[in-house]
Amino acid sequence: MKAIVNTKYGPPDVLQLKEVEKPTFKEDEVLVKVHAASANAYDWHLLTADIFLVRLMGGGLLKPKNTILGVDIAGRVEAVGRNVKQFQPGDEVFGDISACGNGGFAEYVSVPESALALKPVNLSFEEAAAVPMAAVTALQGLRDQGQIQPGQKVLINGASGGVGTFAVQIAKSFGAEVTAVCSTRNLDMARSLGADHVIDYTREDFTQNGQQYDLILAVNGYHPISAYKRALTPKGIYVMAGGSTAQIFQAVLLGPWMSITGGKKMGAVTGKPNQKDLAIIKELLEAGKVVPVIDKRFPLSEVPEALRYLGEGHARGKVVITMEHNSKT
Ligand SMILES: NC(=O)c1ccc[n+]([C@@H]2O[C@H](COP(=O)([O-])OP(=O)(O)OC[C@H]3O[C@@H](n4cnc5c(N)ncnc54)[C@H](OP(=O)(O)O)[C@@H]3O)[C@@H](O)[C@H]2O)c1
Repeated sequence: MKAIVNTKYGPPDVLQLKEVEKPTFKEDEVLVKVHAASANAYDWHLLTADIFLVRLMGGGLLKPKNTILGVDIAGRVEAVGRNVKQFQPGDEVFGDISACGNGGFAEYVSVPESALALKPVNLSFEEAAAVPMAAVTALQGLRDQGQIQPGQKVLINGASGGVGTFAVQIAKSFGAEVTAVCSTRNLDMARSLGADHVIDYTREDFTQNGQQYDLILAVNGYHPISAYKRALTPKGIYVMAGGSTAQIFQAVLLGPWMSITGGKKMGAVTGKPNQKDLAIIKELLEAGKVVPVIDKRFPLSEVPEALRYLGEGHARGKVVITMEHNSKT
């Protein structure tokens, strides 16, 4: 099969399209013929090891442990191991396979059935592949760490990227009053996703305008954690999902200390793929309450270009990888 392989850390140029062995599968695994994948900042970090911690946290100290990137997939079940209960050949599935070694930038991948759910019936493979990691992270950040409630004032900083476009829609599905922070060119898109208010970060700093929010989900950009705290209501919650390295370290290192006194909570979300949450997202997608936003599509052979584009940090929604074998099936 064809796959995009990276045997060393580096820029997207180190990625190579290669013929590799089609994966075998164990008794509890499903062999999926991948029809589409999507690119995530996660792939970028694993490719470039731009955050050194990636190496220490299981990525491989000197070279990548897993040589095929790609965590979000959608495809058709080709075969199942004898202990697989939930799926059968022919089923259309999607999922985040980051907990089982990645490998989505390839024509086939074998994964435990627990990483998959049936693909939403109203979505194409490309749309479905855009969903899992970004949407589940947004859901867990808002619901679990953020304890989102109907009627709350919720602000999403970095509302126009992969996680942010889902976060705006998921927060609306919880009945929140949503403020989306993005740049000028994305204001209309944020409104079309349901945002009640939009703030153009190139013209206004929301941490300086005196407004306060019950919940802030920080997805992209940077503000000092003290500025986020100031923009919270007295019992407000700040959840960092991503953004600049300084934003990430401040939330992880200072957040717990800053939450000890006073009513405000400052913390972070680490998205954990699970079937239950994927099923919740599937319901939202099938009900039309959440719609994936796809910025660009690239064929498998152009994964380096796709990751280069994503790495520039200005994708509008998701970047999707399509498989060349789609046209032959
Ligand atoms: N915690 C977790 O488990 C988890 C899971 C997934 C992702 N993440 C992290 O979350 C972050 C975002 O992921 P993503 O998939 O949404 O990334 P992404 O799709 O690459 O985000 C791109 C978007 O960020 C916006 N942006 C750039 N600079 C900004 C700024 N200063 N203020 C506001 N928006 C800005 C861009 O809008 P403009 O073009 O208008 O600037 C663009 O639409 C990454 O750091 C990623 O590593 C964490």
